[in-house]
Amino acid sequence: MKMTRKKIGLLLSAACLSAFALMACSKDNPVGPEPVDPTLYLPADSLRAVGATAFANNCSGCHGMNGEGAQGPAVGNSDFFMNNRQRVINLVLRGNVSEPRYIDTLVVNGRIHLGGGMPAWHDVLTDKEIASILTYLRSVLNDSTVVSCTSGDEPVCTKVARLPAAMAVDTVAVWEVKKVRDSLLANGVITTTP
Ligand code: HEC
Repeated sequence: MKMTRKKIGLLLSAACLSAFALMACSKDNPVGPEPVDPTLYLPADSLRAVGATAFANNCSGCHGMNGEGAQGPAVGNSDFFMNNRQRVINLVLRGNVSEPRYIDTLVVNGRIHLGGGMPAWHDVLTDKEIASILTYLRSVLNDSTVVSCTSGDEPVCTKVARLPAAMAVDTVAVWEVKKVRDSLLANGVITTTP
């Protein structure tokens, strides 16, 4: 019997249907997913739990126990915090104090902060701790979205409550922090890790 393309195809699919051959015949990913470091993909609830304590210990002194702001601006219900994901990860790692060329002016809920007060955490906190704090802030202390604010010394903001379901899945992953840290290290902006 002459083996036409069609017949070979039929034979192969028959073989693939047998339970043992299924894996070997899968076209897309015969060897399974790429191995990944599980510590870079921690679940949201474990990040939130670590973040609550790490925030209280390291940040609440300047930003308030509920992120309402004190010496530092609000990080709870903060438009800057929620709208500048990469910039915030960057700011927490490198701080905003030491090198004039990196000093960043921020507008938080209608109020201008010239910079010079936010310490660097790259050599104090691990990627996991920073991801945990930012996840805690995004999912617990930012329970409202700031829609708009007046400007000036005493801005008035319009806020809309966020749905608990949206907050529950709002995370900053450990790998995101690691990626920013790696690029800051590669560019020599920071040179040390904890
Ligand atoms: C010594 C006081 C101090 C401590 C401690 C501190 N911050 Fe800040 N932070 C500031 C100040 C002041 C600013 C405003 C920018 C500036 O002056 O550099 C700021 C700005 C920020 C911002 C951006 C603006 C906003 O409100 O959204 C974030 C986010 C932030 N800090 C997060 C943190 C986190 C997370 C920690 C703890 C790991 C922390 N800060 C600890 C003083 C502090």
